[in-house]
Amino acid sequence: MPLLNLTSDELLTTTRSVRKRLDFSRLVEPEVIRECLEIALQAPTGSNAQHWHFIVVTDPEKRKALGDIYMRAWTIYRQNADAAIAKRYANNPQRIQTQKRIVDSSTYLAEHMGNVPVHLIPCITGRLEGSPTVGQAGSWGSILPATWSFMLAARARGLGSAWTTLHLMFEQEAAEVLGIPYEKITQAALIPVAYTQGTDFKPAPREPLDTVLHWNEW
Ligand SMILES: Cc1cc2nc3c(=O)[nH]c(=O)nc-3n(C[C@H](O)[C@H](O)[C@H](O)COP(=O)(O)O)c2cc1C
Repeated sequence: MPLLNLTSDELLTTTRSVRKRLDFSRLVEPEVIRECLEIALQAPTGSNAQHWHFIVVTDPEKRKALGDIYMRAWTIYRQNADAAIAKRYANNPQRIQTQKRIVDSSTYLAEHMGNVPVHLIPCITGRLEGSPTVGQAGSWGSILPATWSFMLAARARGLGSAWTTLHLMFEQEAAEVLGIPYEKITQAALIPVAYTQGTDFKPAPREPLDTVLHWNEW
C-alpha cells in the first residue's frame, strides 16, 4: 500500500483521534489492515509471550451491534461529562473549550460507530479483574503498544482511527456478538478505522512538558 510522505516524527506527532473526518463510504481493503497488523506484531510483549488476538470486524450487522453497544455506553458517559469537565478544569477556561470540542467530536463518533467500515478489537489472553498491578501492567503492556503501532501504521497509509474504550462497559455483550470466550480473553479497546477525508493532521496542544516531568525525583 502506498505510504504518505511523513517523517517518523511527523507520524508520531500527527496521529490524532479521527472521528469527524472518517470516510464511511470508502472501502478499506483487507490487505491494508493485514499490513498494519503485521507491523503491529513487531511490538513488544512481556516475556515475548505474544498472548494477543486481533479481531477485525467488517460484517455490517456486527458493526451495527457494536455501534449500538458503544452508543449505550457513550450515553452513560455523556450524562456526567459536562459537569466533570467544568469541575476538573475550573481554573482553565481554554482547556474547558478543548474538552468540549472532544465531547462534540466523540458524540459524532458514537452516532456513527456502526457505519465505520472497520472495527479492530485488540485482545489479551486472561482476565485481569483482581490482578495485582504487576500482573495488570504486564497484560495491558502486552497489547497496548501493538495497538498504537497499528494506529501509526494505519495513519502512514492514509487511514484514520481513534482509541476508544467505552464499549468495555458492556464487554461481555460485545464478546457475545463476536463469539469471544469472555472468561479467557480480555478486550482492550475498540478502534474504528477508515480512510480519512484529507490526510493533513496537526500536532495537538498538550500541557507543557515541565508540568509532568520529574527528573531524578518526584
Ligand atoms: C485509554 C484511552 C481511552 C479512550 N477512550 C475513548 C473513547 O471511549 N471514546 C472516544 O471517542 N475517544 C477515546 N479516547 C481518545 C481520547 O479522547 C483522545 O486521545 C484525546 O482526546 C486526545 O486527542 P488526540 O488523540 O487526537 O491527540 C481514548 C484514548 C485513550 C488513550
